[in-house]
Amino acid sequence: MKMLQFENPSIQGELKVPGDKSISHRSIMFGAISEGVTRVTGFLKGDDCLSTIDCFRKMGINITEKDDEILIEGKGFHGLKEPEEVLYTGNSGTTTRLLLGILAGRPFHSVVTGDESIAKRPMNRVTEPLKQMGASIDGRDNGNLTPLSVRGGKLKSFHYKLPVASAQLKSALILAGLQSEEETIITEPEKTRDHTEKMIRHFGGNIAREGNQIKVSGNQPFKAKDVHVPGDISSAAFFLTAAAITSGSSLVLKDVGLNETRTGILDVLKQMEADFSVNLTNDEEEPQGEIMISTSRLKGCEIAGELIPRLIDEIPIIALLATQATGQTVIKDAEELKVKETNRIDAVVEELKKLGADIHATEDGMIINGPVKLNGGQADSRGDHRIGMMLAVASLITDDAVHIKNHECISVSYPAFFEDLSHVTK
Ligand code: S3P
Repeated sequence: MKMLQFENPSIQGELKVPGDKSISHRSIMFGAISEGVTRVTGFLKGDDCLSTIDCFRKMGINITEKDDEILIEGKGFHGLKEPEEVLYTGNSGTTTRLLLGILAGRPFHSVVTGDESIAKRPMNRVTEPLKQMGASIDGRDNGNLTPLSVRGGKLKSFHYKLPVASAQLKSALILAGLQSEEETIITEPEKTRDHTEKMIRHFGGNIAREGNQIKVSGNQPFKAKDVHVPGDISSAAFFLTAAAITSGSSLVLKDVGLNETRTGILDVLKQMEADFSVNLTNDEEEPQGEIMISTSRLKGCEIAGELIPRLIDEIPIIALLATQATGQTVIKDAEELKVKETNRIDAVVEELKKLGADIHATEDGMIINGPVKLNGGQADSRGDHRIGMMLAVASLITDDAVHIKNHECISVSYPAFFEDLSHVTK
């Protein structure tokens, strides 16, 4: 249990948030399937990304840490070997799903399993299309739930329309498609984060996009290339909110990844009329820059449609932001929240209600009325890192202490979160 209590805090100074989780996972995966040594800087050493490293080590890939760098001795897809042990993916949906895409094309047997949260998350969105491509996959509930056993092999040409906007599903199919003899065509209902596509190009491969259709061919050689991981905008979101909702605040977040498939939170801050600005410092494949934000008078807004995949992980902290905005905030089209680390519609609504928020759940999102003065009390992260961090930021504006149960899970994406919070809290 973590007890947090502040008296009229303000958020000030500069902060560099840790590396992007999605890009960190992919840097290990692409490093492993490329030929040669890839050096990764800015890597997020959170539990989820460490699970990815562990799985690739179990498939015979040498991965070492040197100072602040990760070195991956890639051997190409063909260099991955049959693991002698179960591939344990911990709490990480990204590791589990993307790994399944890689394993689908490998001619060996493997078993993939994760923690109690992973055990409840639907895998058939990935296993069904991979089976159609030619992989043998089985598991509980007909191959929907972990543990999953995979025997990969020769994959067929495939044209698939994703039933949900999910970058994890898209990426799993792309990774399988890269091992197919023929072309793979994937259509997504809405544009989702495109880090996998950018990695393919970074490592010397080709992938084409036209509208929402993606085409990728197999048997492409990937050559090792250094990767720099920018700061994670999903982690920055907690501090953007902290500064916006506390009085006398002024914060600069440095080196934040600004890939436009991830910056939905900035669109929301704009709609809410927050006092912030962005300074692009690097406009390469994965753009990055500084975000300056101060105490803000916020207005409620509607968040729906194609904006949702661009801020899906930020919805818990956006809900807190909305409790301090004048008027109503409506979040729609976000059913996907039900299958994240927890059911995030229930978790956000029930935990924020404990602190006195005016919030209620809908079928595909939530409705929040503000501004409301929050009270302290007991709340529970439910083992979900983003719920834990949202509750910690809420404690900055409560009239009494907030006691957070199960706060340890925050190390999944932000091991130094509490140190960084105390660093900028004055
Ligand atoms: C991720 C994609 C998102 C996101 C997750 C990371 C990724 O999941 O919620 O935290 O790295 O591809 P979905 O694509 O399943 O929505």
